[in-house]
Amino acid sequence: MRRTSVENGTGAGAAAGAGEEPKAAARRARPVIAIDGPAGAGKSTLAAHLARRFGFLNLETGAMYRALALKAIENDLSFDEEHELLELAGDTRIALQPQMEGNLVLLDDVDVSRRVRDTDVTAAASRVSVHPKLRQWMVEQQRTLGAKGGVVMEGRDIGTVVFPDAEVKIFLDAAPEVRGNRRYRQGVPAQAAVTEEAIIEELKERDARDRNRTESPLRAAEDAVILDSTTMSLEQVLAAAEEIVRTHLEAGSRAQGSVSRA
Ligand code: DC
Repeated sequence: MRRTSVENGTGAGAAAGAGEEPKAAARRARPVIAIDGPAGAGKSTLAAHLARRFGFLNLETGAMYRALALKAIENDLSFDEEHELLELAGDTRIALQPQMEGNLVLLDDVDVSRRVRDTDVTAAASRVSVHPKLRQWMVEQQRTLGAKGGVVMEGRDIGTVVFPDAEVKIFLDAAPEVRGNRRYRQGVPAQAAVTEEAIIEELKERDARDRNRTESPLRAAEDAVILDSTTMSLEQVLAAAEEIVRTHLEAGSRAQGSVSRA
């Protein structure tokens, strides 16, 4: 499996700024599939499935915000001080290693894959991710990671900011009560003692922060296909998403064929 690393920004010098459109689509050898949506919608499960199905790498961009948030916790930094967080980012190596079921997350070469899922890191990541310059730093890394294509990248701003030229964009949504109930039934270890109501409240809080921040708030791209899984089973969601991807990729190759014949 291809090893994908983000090394403290040094490799990202050529990437466009977060506000600019990357002009990579024409040069990309393989497509980018962007999956966005609120917390707990099942994006990681869907991304892992599509990556396996189409032979792509899955990249969980949320894990990058989580890794930096963890380092801020370890260094006793305030989550509200953008300047300090940026300095910290400049001195940090975050690596994502795609696996069959999600990403291995390395923070300065240490495997923090489990730790970054704990509730304190989850809450910190949500606060850290509101800072515009920090987001730009992350976006540059993410564009570098996906530059060659052949990736399913999931997050909150992939189709709107990171890869607005993605070949396929899916916005996966579901009612907060349904997302909370699914999470509760999964029995996430760090949340084992938490009630279903508390999980729903926490999801709503993160939703509000994600949707209302000034820099790249969570929203569906104009050309995204919205998949609302509120009343769908997992199998139905996976099948519907596969169909969306297949249709878009086929349409893309037909369009490319007609361009190259012209
Ligand atoms: O997807 P996740 O729950 O692992 O994301 C953790 C946090 O990071 C979440 O609160 C929102 C933020 N995030 C973001 O702002 N932009 C992304 N592309 C991915 C995650």
